[in-house]
Amino acid sequence: MCGIVGYFGSDKARQYLLEGLERLEYRGYDSAGISILDHEKNRFVSVKTVGRVETLKKRTSHLKEAMLGMGHTRWATHGGVSETNAHPHYAYNGRFIVVHNGVIDNYKTLKADHLKGIDVVNDTNTEVIASLLARFAEKMTVEDAIKQTLDLLEGSFALLILDQDHPSVLYGAKNKSPLILATSNGDWYIASDLLALPSNTERFHVMSDHTWFKLENKTLTSYQAHGATIDFDFEAFKDLGPLAERGEHAHFMLKEMLEQPQILETLVAHHQSHGFDEALVTALKEASSLEIIAAGTSWHAGLVGKHLLEKTLMKPVNVHIASEFAYHPPFVSEHPLFIFISQSGETADLIACHPYIKTKEAPLLTITNVPTSSLSRMADYVLDLKAGPEIAVASTKAYTAQITMIALLCAHITHDQALSNDILTIASSMREFLQDHIKIQPLVKELLTNHHAFYMGRGLDYLTGLEAALKLKEISYIQTEGFAAGELKHGTIALIEEDTPIIALIGEASTSALTRNNIHEVEARGAKALVISFKSLSEPTDAIIFEDVNPMLSPLLLVVPTQLIAYYAALMRGLDIDKPRNLAKSVTVE
Ligand code: G6P
Repeated sequence: MCGIVGYFGSDKARQYLLEGLERLEYRGYDSAGISILDHEKNRFVSVKTVGRVETLKKRTSHLKEAMLGMGHTRWATHGGVSETNAHPHYAYNGRFIVVHNGVIDNYKTLKADHLKGIDVVNDTNTEVIASLLARFAEKMTVEDAIKQTLDLLEGSFALLILDQDHPSVLYGAKNKSPLILATSNGDWYIASDLLALPSNTERFHVMSDHTWFKLENKTLTSYQAHGATIDFDFEAFKDLGPLAERGEHAHFMLKEMLEQPQILETLVAHHQSHGFDEALVTALKEASSLEIIAAGTSWHAGLVGKHLLEKTLMKPVNVHIASEFAYHPPFVSEHPLFIFISQSGETADLIACHPYIKTKEAPLLTITNVPTSSLSRMADYVLDLKAGPEIAVASTKAYTAQITMIALLCAHITHDQALSNDILTIASSMREFLQDHIKIQPLVKELLTNHHAFYMGRGLDYLTGLEAALKLKEISYIQTEGFAAGELKHGTIALIEEDTPIIALIGEASTSALTRNNIHEVEARGAKALVISFKSLSEPTDAIIFEDVNPMLSPLLLVVPTQLIAYYAALMRGLDIDKPRNLAKSVTVE
């Protein structure tokens, strides 16, 4: 979703802003813009464009290098995709310029209460911030105007602010949406995502909620919302460079799928040598129930994790869709332990659950790929997925890393060395299968000729089918439903007609015969069925057959061909695989 970059340094504003915005492209966006200091005129100039950063680059090629500037990629929420609605936004009198990530929930009230008679230029909820600053700064210092404005804003924001009357100052503020301040060689860089920082960054500070800063002639002063100065703690930066590069691969998604066996092996090696925090293990054992909260692919990983954790801890494990949990919290047991699962650690739907969790005074574990993220900082315990940056919007390696992490935690709790070895066996089967991934292409060509498709399975296979269906619809735009095979005759069979594509997953011995019956039932009605199975449950006509693995871990392997099916379906349709339409990598608004 939206991204922010800022620069205050020697003379690299234009270069860094454009590079930083390019590094933020993976998050998903529809328009982009920058404001940069024109040293001759001693004023900021802004350029905005709909579409890619590449276009912005061309449209800013005439601009000279500068010491100060800020940039933004916008993913439309309030107001359509247009140049006018793209950031930066100006105050009514042109004095303050703002880029903003997040949503100001009370912007209509603020307009009515404080900006009567002022013409609104665009449909966003950001313009009001710039205009409030201008209105208040008529009567007070800019610092006081910022304090007053921040006091009034309800909702989420990461903000950068420029002042045409003082073009040697940059302000930033943060609540709920991430903002990071970093330094390198005496230059300042600001970004909403660690991945947007330059590779030579030396130190960085992840801003806390209700804090803001002023950079004046490169000197930093940092504040709490109400104005008291505070010190920001900076930590050393580790460059994520090559991991965030596509290398020789055609797409990030392909690269990330291919990385999966290595990630599984790394996680096994790490936890074999480092174990897990025993305080976390005790908290898991003492809890009366575990409440997993997640969204999208991470929710699917949570559904699989529930099976592993329930068998290990012999207690109820409930899995909640974050956006549902936040506003309809269900009844939870007396001493729950909450678990956030989130690749990015920034998903707004999960952040919105935190106030309720706090009221329960219960321990919180976050399983994430970004240990510096907002959801990590809210937690008592953090498990780092160590999967490296995931750039493709469609999550693949984070899903298998999340399940592996939960499996390793279970193995640790029960001292089950065999389970760790089973993960290593799966990693080698994955590697072998992925080596020849092109073999999926003809299967896809033959099967996915329609605008709709189905995945079916039972038990863990059903859960894998849910993730498989999400992947296929996300990037190929084929309408896909994953359903519990036992439900076929309770509805979905009505949709089966000549050539309907159905992919059946068979990894569970106790139900494989029943799912086979379902395959016969759909074939009898003309459907084209493709079966993915394990050797001991296979039939000669199955399209993909894996060697048997520990059935509790079967989703780790079964999901891999389904990821490739989605990939090749999108490839054959000539679609933008890494940046599917309308989707965002990190969903930072509810
Ligand atoms: C978005 C992404 C998905 C991801 C989901 C949850 O929808 O496109 O790939 O699964 O958010 O994100 P999280 O970062 O919390 O795992």
